[in-house]
Amino acid sequence: MQRLTLLLSLLFFLSTATTFTRGHNITHILGKHPSFSTFNHYLTLTHLAGEINRRTTITICAVDNAAMSELLSKHPSIATIKNILSLHVLLDYFGTKKLHQIREGTALAATMFQATGSAPGSSGFVNITDVKGGKVGFGPEDNEGNLDVFYVKSLEEIPYNISVIQISKVLPSDVAAAPTPEPSAMNITDIMSAHGCKVFADALIANPEASKTYQDNIDGGLTVFCPLDDPFKAFSPKFKNLTASGKVSFLEFFGVPIYQSLAMLKSNNGIMNTLATDGEKKFDFTVQNDGEEVTLKTRSVTAKIAGTLIDEQPLAIYTTDKVLLPKELFKAAPAPEKEVADAPKSSKHKKPSSDGAPSDSPADSPDGDPADQTADDNASVTLHGGRVVAVVLSLCSRLLLL
Ligand SMILES: *[C@@H]1O[C@H](CO)[C@@H](O)[C@H](O)[C@H]1NC(C)=O
Ligand SMILES: *[C@@H]1O[C@H](CO)[C@@H](O)[C@H](O)[C@H]1NC(C)=O
Ligand SMILES: *[C@@H]1O[C@H](CO)[C@@H](O)[C@H](O)[C@H]1NC(C)=O
Ligand SMILES: *[C@@H]1O[C@H](CO)[C@@H](O)[C@H](O)[C@H]1NC(C)=O
Ligand SMILES: *[C@@H]1O[C@H](CO)[C@@H](O)[C@H](O)[C@H]1NC(C)=O
Ligand SMILES: *[C@@H]1O[C@H](CO)[C@@H](O)[C@H](O)[C@H]1NC(C)=O
Repeated sequence: MQRLTLLLSLLFFLSTATTFTRGHNITHILGKHPSFSTFNHYLTLTHLAGEINRRTTITICAVDNAAMSELLSKHPSIATIKNILSLHVLLDYFGTKKLHQIREGTALAATMFQATGSAPGSSGFVNITDVKGGKVGFGPEDNEGNLDVFYVKSLEEIPYNISVIQISKVLPSDVAAAPTPEPSAMNITDIMSAHGCKVFADALIANPEASKTYQDNIDGGLTVFCPLDDPFKAFSPKFKNLTASGKVSFLEFFGVPIYQSLAMLKSNNGIMNTLATDGEKKFDFTVQNDGEEVTLKTRSVTAKIAGTLIDEQPLAIYTTDKVLLPKELFKAAPAPEKEVADAPKSSKHKKPSSDGAPSDSPADSPDGDPADQTADDNASVTLHGGRVVAVVLSLCSRLLLL
């Protein structure tokens, strides 16, 4: 029990530590080396830079602009580039000294490609071997023992947080370089329908204008916050009441025209424009972190992110436990006190769709819906469970690395 407490407080410390300390900044480090500007640019574009800045005890195997242009000449998609570059992030600290003194002359290093689960099976490991003549060779494990990429020089070492080294060329891995499906070919309504957001997906399919807006935005980056079936079902009567253009704006309000990973959402508070935002019509909401939870707020509703359906750049789809109401279409709910008075606790057990509340004091108000409650419960289990597993895993890897 004491150990558990210790472990938990350690976990707490680690998770708060990673949230609040400002460590290295890979963009800044590589910015001092103009011949690595392309590699640096793509670390930012693929959002790997943020992942790298969040981690410690890592090694970045950077390649110069010439090596990057060779890679780019094959016109890989951004998702493929992300896979390839994440293979260049070793989850261990290899300074120059350690590279030349590898125990028994050879080691396998796990990479970010392997750690993110994008790599099938045991691929995603990089073999580092001290070869003859004091050279250090690198080869992805799926490359039949070829070690024809070599260590060139150290660019920066911050023991034991991050080591940035130059290697002679891009690590050749068929697995990482495999084409990823074109994002625009993904059917987002199918993804939603299969994972608890069928009612929302059906509403989208029934509104071609809104679904086209979604589809057209996938390639350039799209984040969707789709309400789970229970809350959206309860909301349906009000949705049906909207005008045709109101329905389109309302549906578009749940899409944001940029890609936002969960990690990015957790580190960004602020106003989000949506697909429905159009000049005067703001149709925005506020993202606010509440501990480990990400909440989305409008004047009358605060929804929580309940789960992740897909998070593959450029597309992320999350589920939410409540239906966010844009203030442009729904007048603000009365002040919370009044709302409690209007809707006593017993209304929790009433179907919101049948309690005849006028549309400007939403029956789907934050606490009035039993379906919400279920979703809340499930949501917290999903979120906390996932987080604890993730933190324990990272703790384990830290301990292993010590
Ligand atoms: C190493 O990382 C830790 C945790 O992010 C940070 O507190 C520390 O300042 C870093 N060390 C250096 C030398 O940057
Ligand atoms: C990292 O460095 C770059 C370039 O110096 C800067 O633009 C960026 O804001 C920095 N990122 C963080 C998280 O400090
Ligand atoms: C790395 O590759 C070399 C050459 O194929 C091989 O001899 C060595 O056993 C490999 N190292 C590990 C740790 O698998
Ligand atoms: C997605 O699939 C649904 C049926 O599963 C279909 O009605 C819809 O048109 C598809 N959307 C696209 C953009 O292909
Ligand atoms: C739909 O609109 C009508 C007329 O404005 C209103 O009386 C009714 O309560 C609304 N229904 C819902 C479910 O909001
Ligand atoms: C919550 O979980 C229960 C049991 O796993 C399931 O029956 C229910 O449909 C879930 N509710 C939502 C809103 O996902």
